[in-house]
Amino acid sequence: IRHFISINDLSAAEINRLIQSAISLKKGPSTPLLKGKTLGMIFQKPSMRTRVSFDVAMYQLGGHAIDLQQTEVGIGTRESAADIARVMSRYVDAIMARVFNHSVLTDLAEYATVPVINGLSDVEHPCQAMADLMTIVELKGKLKGLVVAYIGDGNNCAASLALGAVALGAEVRIASPKGYWFSNEARAKITESAAKTGAVLLYTDDPRKTARGADVIYTDVWTSMGQEAESQERRRAFAGYQVNPSLLAMAKPDAIFMHPLPAHYGEEVSSGIMEDRRAVVFQQAENRLHVQKALLVNFLKNPK
Ligand code: CP
Ligand code: NVA
Repeated sequence: IRHFISINDLSAAEINRLIQSAISLKKGPSTPLLKGKTLGMIFQKPSMRTRVSFDVAMYQLGGHAIDLQQTEVGIGTRESAADIARVMSRYVDAIMARVFNHSVLTDLAEYATVPVINGLSDVEHPCQAMADLMTIVELKGKLKGLVVAYIGDGNNCAASLALGAVALGAEVRIASPKGYWFSNEARAKITESAAKTGAVLLYTDDPRKTARGADVIYTDVWTSMGQEAESQERRRAFAGYQVNPSLLAMAKPDAIFMHPLPAHYGEEVSSGIMEDRRAVVFQQAENRLHVQKALLVNFLKNPK
């Protein structure tokens, strides 16, 4: 059984093929490619985009989605991830889970006999990265040779984006304050992937070094779900890491600005940023729907 836990679970060729499939699915009309199929969704954390786009994707493909909250399913409290995976595999055709601890996903994947899809963990957000890469391909035609600058916390979205962009041959620059860099594990995976494609990597604590001449400027919240207790401390650490018109002005004139949403205006982004002509954030959010359709068709039709 193939799972989608990390963006690294797909080869560069598969990522490119899925992006092309998403672009053609986006043209519509929907065909019932997943008629009679059910997706079980488990959420340990809040969600709007992930929940709605997966549900709508299954509906438009002729299938069905079931939404379970942590309060009802109780992973690790009411029941073990292993037992949940073994039972749900007998009801549904794939499991999508959003979890606090990445190990819950790897436990689900170990015991499930259907594909497990990462709908965000503390380590990665691969569905978001697929939508990010699709959006870049739509607007720039390719990743190869582009400069992708990520400014902010070395978090789940940043790790998946960096892994995916490097796999497709982009130069990736990351600016984070000391102490908020990628984990050693994430960094090792990115370095390994960059070695294969010859992609250039830059880690710095200076946002300007990443923004200069960039094709893509990307940021995400300073405080991710589950880190709320640190939000004060993080606001202090990340002061100076805001993406605003003066930082955007350093990028290429045709650069695009991306954010996975939800956004915290006045923190990682200035208040008028979504009205800037360079912001492609809502196209990026829409693409969650299209790219997840491509992922669902791929993983449900060819689970082996
Ligand atoms: N970007 C994203 O995953 O949004 P939600 O948390 O609303 O699902
Ligand atoms: N990094 C954020 C992304 C939300 C989609 C979080 O994990 O909360």
